[in-house]
Amino acid sequence: MQGLSPAGHCRPKGLHHFVIFVFLVVLSVVGSAQQPAPRSVWDGVYTAEQARRGGPLYAQHCSSCHGTTFEGGEMAPPLAGGTFNANWNGLSLGDLVERIRISMPQNSPNSLSRQQYVDILAAMLGGGEFPQGSAELPREIDVLRQIAFESMKRQ
Ligand code: HEC
Repeated sequence: MQGLSPAGHCRPKGLHHFVIFVFLVVLSVVGSAQQPAPRSVWDGVYTAEQARRGGPLYAQHCSSCHGTTFEGGEMAPPLAGGTFNANWNGLSLGDLVERIRISMPQNSPNSLSRQQYVDILAAMLGGGEFPQGSAELPREIDVLRQIAFESMKRQ
């Protein structure tokens, strides 16, 4: 053992550090892969049925100002399409539904149930041509805050 050259000592030590380094890299990759990917409006977060339910509610409570196809009116802004998407890009569906609940319908804010507000939101997402999925938008604001509104689909 005493016959080993200094270089002989160095090499296994360097190898040791390298193995630990690789191990840490693998750990961090595995760790990040296990975190649930954040959801967005591109992940099918409402159902066709829910949007159908929201349609008549929208027609009754919102379309007189915002237009029958979410295109906006003389005074009220559009609720689907480029300008709307740009306004809400990066915020969450929780932010959006709360904004609607506390201020809309403008002539009678907070007059609908939470279920009615999310069903109307589903109709709006349908109007904006965001994809439908197999589960409905939930009423729970905490869950809605985990769903990002993104104007563009991530690559
Ligand atoms: C009496 C007319 C009127 C009615 C009815 C109405 N709104 Fe509005 N809405 C407006 C006006 C005007 C604005 C812009 C001023 C403001 O932001 O408060 C607006 C703004 C909004 C915004 C913000 C848009 C943006 O780009 O940020 C949303 C979302 C919205 N309304 C949704 C709704 C929904 C959903 C309903 C039905 C539940 C509804 N509104 C009913 C007049 C109306």
